[in-house]
Amino acid sequence: MKVAETQLQDLDTDVFIKDQVKNIREAVGDDLAVNALSGGVDSAVVTLLAHRALGDRLKTYFIENGLMREAEAERIVAIFAELGVPVEVIDAREQFFGALKGITDPEEKRDKGITEVFYKDVFGKLVAECKAKVLLQGTNYTDVEETVAGIKRQHNILAQLGIDTEQAYGYKVLEPIISLRKPAVRVVGEALGLPEEIFARPPFPGPALATRVIGEVTPEKVALVRAATTVVEAELCDLGAFQYLAILHEDKVTGLRDGKRDFGHQIEVRCWDSTDAVTATPTDVPFELLRRTADRIVAEVPGVVSVTYNIASKPPSCIEAV
Ligand code: XMP
Repeated sequence: MKVAETQLQDLDTDVFIKDQVKNIREAVGDDLAVNALSGGVDSAVVTLLAHRALGDRLKTYFIENGLMREAEAERIVAIFAELGVPVEVIDAREQFFGALKGITDPEEKRDKGITEVFYKDVFGKLVAECKAKVLLQGTNYTDVEETVAGIKRQHNILAQLGIDTEQAYGYKVLEPIISLRKPAVRVVGEALGLPEEIFARPPFPGPALATRVIGEVTPEKVALVRAATTVVEAELCDLGAFQYLAILHEDKVTGLRDGKRDFGHQIEVRCWDSTDAVTATPTDVPFELLRRTADRIVAEVPGVVSVTYNIASKPPSCIEAV
């Protein structure tokens, strides 16, 4: 299925919202629909479009996969409660960590560790339980483009890879923002009344912190990269960068702590200037700020002895590590 891009300059927000609300109503008919809210701008926009279209015939779930940022579930539930959208949190941590166990290959991680569990195990069950026919999700134009080009298997690309979701998982998938890139999604989010902390939020990948652990993803490693993420987000948030993140490397290195050898972890900090994630350059972060970020990471994240800053551009680098 070919998708045409809606350029930002051609976007009429009111018309877009009206059209998508109508499309959702028509596609869902008298049935129920579910949607997956991760808290990112894409799924937040789809949640509000679908809520506008379906009211209480929409069931919104936040999947706690164990891979999200610190206190994310509570925060998202509270923000959407303010907007009048009830969100149910589903604890699927065991399923995701079970599936990710032993996987080190990046594409296998995305496919078997995330996509299969998310669509088949978690949503297959939820959709069947509430007798819904449709899953709504926030796939955007860049997700499709990168996957179709064979660059990276974005976790949410299904139809464009020839997957018949009704046959594979038992439900139809609707993707109301599939023609938009991130800047356009933000404009629609603002028009729909999302708070700025959501519509201006830096992007966060669907497979979440699993894309930021090199090698096998375990609860212990995710805890480390989560703690480093908290520091990086707090320190780099005022630079106006497109996205900033922490990566946990698989290799350990020799360090020195309290006068003793400490064979410890390495964290890589990345901070990107970009408009749409297709190309990106490393942000010129003041050295003092990098030093302060590193000092906090080695002090606050247990076992980290080395912090590096990525200075390569995309391409050939990518924004995430996996
Ligand atoms: P890369 O790493 O491909 O990332 O340069 C480009 C943008 O996409 C985000 N990203 C994802 N988002 N599912 C998503 O929803 C995914 O599987 C995925 N992989 C990467 C990444 O954070 C960046 O903004």
